[in-house]
Amino acid sequence: MPFYQRLGDVPRKRHIQFRDNGTLLTEEVMGLEGFSGNESILYHLQSPCRVMQIGEFEPIVREEWVPDTHQHRLMNTKEIAPEGDEVTGRRLLMWNNDVEISICRPSGTMDYFFRNGEGDEVIFVHEGSGTLETIFGDLPYREGDYIVIPRGTTYRFVPEGEQRHLVFETPGLIEIPRRYRNQYGQIVEGAPYYHRDIHPPAQLNTHREKGEFPVKVRVRGGYQTYVLDYHPFDVVGWDGYLFPWTFSIHDFEPITGRIHQPPPAHQTFSGRNFVICSFCPRKLDFDPLAVPIPYHHSNLQSEEMIYYVSGNFGSRKGVDVGSITLHPSGLPHGPQPGLAERSIGMHETGELAVMCDTFYPLKLSTLARDLDDGKYAYSWYEPAAGETTEAGLTSHL
Ligand SMILES: [Fe+2]
Repeated sequence: MPFYQRLGDVPRKRHIQFRDNGTLLTEEVMGLEGFSGNESILYHLQSPCRVMQIGEFEPIVREEWVPDTHQHRLMNTKEIAPEGDEVTGRRLLMWNNDVEISICRPSGTMDYFFRNGEGDEVIFVHEGSGTLETIFGDLPYREGDYIVIPRGTTYRFVPEGEQRHLVFETPGLIEIPRRYRNQYGQIVEGAPYYHRDIHPPAQLNTHREKGEFPVKVRVRGGYQTYVLDYHPFDVVGWDGYLFPWTFSIHDFEPITGRIHQPPPAHQTFSGRNFVICSFCPRKLDFDPLAVPIPYHHSNLQSEEMIYYVSGNFGSRKGVDVGSITLHPSGLPHGPQPGLAERSIGMHETGELAVMCDTFYPLKLSTLARDLDDGKYAYSWYEPAAGETTEAGLTSHL
């Protein structure tokens, strides 16, 4: 998506004969919006349609929690038990028709290949490193990376070390915000990142092995498994604008001002009816009368989910690394009592967080119910001295 790339061998022109040891290769045009959106062209040793066995279809089952009350929520995901792999271990927290947000702490590794056939993915790597092996080549990743995987990309995680991922899956497209790009697609001056910060696959390895290779494809609300008799990474070359890439949150250049900058200054990606933002360590507002932490706001048409990665979050009390706050639409929210006063004179923040604002309400899963602390909504309440709230929070917390 970000710019033209080419790896391996491709013929002089599109749609002409291209051979490997005399055998005509299979050309696959993989594109968006029919034949007018971004695309890549891949050259395969085998037809990508070739399957030796059609396996099981497993429908995706979402366990929804419909809370009795509408309120702000705080969930700590830090201690969720590892399970599954980098795909089957995704544990859904919240979702709507535009995005699904999951936490993944895999306990095992993938012994199959995966392809999301109905959506784009962004995986924020909170902990761990490794290589995302893909049909476009190997994509190394490390802590702090966003891995952006367009639909249709066959891949497999080869992790190094324990992994903790925050996963966004969307039936829409993940894009670089339009205002960051000029009419030709180049990222403009003033945008918080540049092409040099975007890392496409580093190396293409063409596999010629035969055997049995299961590929699990997310389609039509479930996972369909196919078995191939050849390694799915049989591409000798490709070129185009569609490929997986990484961008490190540590390469996001924060935009600061004399007075407070609103959340769009932190926008990293845009999706269909949602945005993903990165809150990074930065200098704070420098007007002598500035209040450096955010003003209260009523996000009347947004649901705001923030995942806390590291550092101290100035506008939140009692929020730990791995916690998520959810400020649903229809309610105001802002820093807890005393924090605005305390922030005056602060010059910088070390916070690191990932935010997802959706423009339509989010549903919650039973996992969100299990992690919900139940008392965060009272954290703006200051009872009279000696009193405690229902939730047991005292005014000095
Ligand atoms: Fe907010």
